[in-house]
Amino acid sequence: MILPAVQGALRAVSLTFRRALGLPAQLDTADRRVLEQVILPAFAARRTRQRLLFVGCAAYTQHYEQIFAAHEYWTIDPVASRRRYGSRHHIIDGLQNLGDHAEAEFFDVIVCNGVLGWGLNLPGQVDAAFTACHRHLRTGGELVLGWNDVAPRNDVSPNDVSALKLFRAAIFAPLETTRFAVAGSNRHIFDFFVKV
Ligand SMILES: C[S@@+](CC[C@H](N)C(=O)[O-])C[C@H]1O[C@@H](n2cnc3c(N)ncnc32)[C@H](O)[C@@H]1O
Repeated sequence: MILPAVQGALRAVSLTFRRALGLPAQLDTADRRVLEQVILPAFAARRTRQRLLFVGCAAYTQHYEQIFAAHEYWTIDPVASRRRYGSRHHIIDGLQNLGDHAEAEFFDVIVCNGVLGWGLNLPGQVDAAFTACHRHLRTGGELVLGWNDVAPRNDVSPNDVSALKLFRAAIFAPLETTRFAVAGSNRHIFDFFVKV
């Protein structure tokens, strides 16, 4: 428990220094490669202008705004200091409070990766957060949920979140599945949903 936390803190410090020095600050892990080389580019390649919300910001996600330069890219994080990693359209708040900042049916895509079990932890809060995702996605809009199927990150499992049952599991064409499990010790899973 302590070792991963220390490793995570050291990694964050290292990435912050790299960014400050103008060096690339990116993570090179299997799940990150799936996110950055498959999932995000697939949304970015869409011809119609998408309004996206990326949930939870870090030094290594700061460059995602460039991927979506042709779209309207929003970010949200409750920690005020993380604004520096957020986009031009950044919200300082928890996902569960999205309704204080956006109208219903506002977004085309919401990507919530590495947040469930990483701060979004309490069952009621998790349910409120995904209820908000459903409300603020347009009909046909898509939710990507990336999470680690290891304790304690999976203390609240998506399988048990009633708000996620508001959505339909949807095949994400580039990966040809509704649920993509990345091989590796952190058992990262990407779930794909659509608002019907
Ligand atoms: C491990 S980082 C993940 C960052 C990024 N989303 C990624 O793909 O790796 C977790 C981030 O989620 C943020 N977070 C925690 N609780 C949240 C909530 N209720 N709503 C939105 N973001 C939250 C934290 O402040 C932190 O910046």
